[in-house]
Amino acid sequence: MDAAIIKGLTKFVNRKNSTSVLLNAFDNAKSGSGQELGLVGEAGVGKSRLVHEIMNLLPQDKYSYLEGRCLQYGNSMAYHPFLNILKTCFGIQEGDREFLIKKKITKKILNLNETLKGVIPPYQGLLSLKVDDDDFIKLDPKKKREKTFEALRDLMIRLSQEKCLVLCVEDLHWIDKTSEEFLDYLIGWLANSPILLILVYRPEFTNTWGSKSYYTKIGLTQLGMAASTKLVGPFWERGAWPRNLRHSFLNAGQETRLLWRNLPMPYWKTIPLNKKKKTIFLKKSFEYSAP
Ligand SMILES: Nc1ncnc2c1ncn2[C@@H]1O[C@H](COP(=O)(O)OP(=O)(O)O)[C@@H](O)[C@H]1O
Ligand SMILES: [Mg+2]
Repeated sequence: MDAAIIKGLTKFVNRKNSTSVLLNAFDNAKSGSGQELGLVGEAGVGKSRLVHEIMNLLPQDKYSYLEGRCLQYGNSMAYHPFLNILKTCFGIQEGDREFLIKKKITKKILNLNETLKGVIPPYQGLLSLKVDDDDFIKLDPKKKREKTFEALRDLMIRLSQEKCLVLCVEDLHWIDKTSEEFLDYLIGWLANSPILLILVYRPEFTNTWGSKSYYTKIGLTQLGMAASTKLVGPFWERGAWPRNLRHSFLNAGQETRLLWRNLPMPYWKTIPLNKKKKTIFLKKSFEYSAP
């Protein structure tokens, strides 16, 4: 999605129902009853795009947004999605020296709340800095983990007291075990906090979070034919799509799965249509210019 944003996004189509569920969850969270929202769908179906569109719809001054992303080969890296969240939160930039990072953490924490001072050592530990607290260093791993969970939770809750916090964790199907356990823990604290937790994942990822009364699941399916036609229409009008592709695409029916992932890219290749799976695969081969 980030790359797509830089190149310019396709016009957003459809997703009215999902949009209103998301906006509703935000309103509930904003009024103090935290919400957990699972956004589930196959790769390329439009999960990240939906989150991006929703964030643009929400009143900018009424929420803060933090996003963590799980990596395909990142499941051995404990707390991976939360490291990015912490870096954003503390304004840490690539190349910042250790002393500056520590300064930024302390400044932010003291600004938020003096009493949060005790959470600084776990953040130093999480960000692989030298920890300035011997008592914390000496803790056994179980206790350290407990303190780290509490520190992350306190930060989220404290931030949400300033403005409703939208916390999005992307691509959970690749999540590391510790982060998954932390999410489990955080979810237990959501009910009375103005936090909207958006969990984005593919259908193969299973979890037990659905049992909470404040959990809503949005299942995203491929865009229907009408929406797909609307989306690719502008490209066809410019004659960029070869005739046989147009024909195949329009005849593939509702279940057509167009791999959107790279749609706005300037160079493409052939389009063998797999009739059995009703899937059109787009690969590089011809050129078109985006409208
Ligand atoms: N409703 C939509 N309207 C227009 N373009 C869309 C829509 N949904 C997804 N796309 C485009 O499809 C591509 C893949 O979507 P993305 O959100 O990254 O999928 P996912 O996160 O489910 O893997 C992106 O380029 C995105 O802009
Ligand atoms: Mg995505």
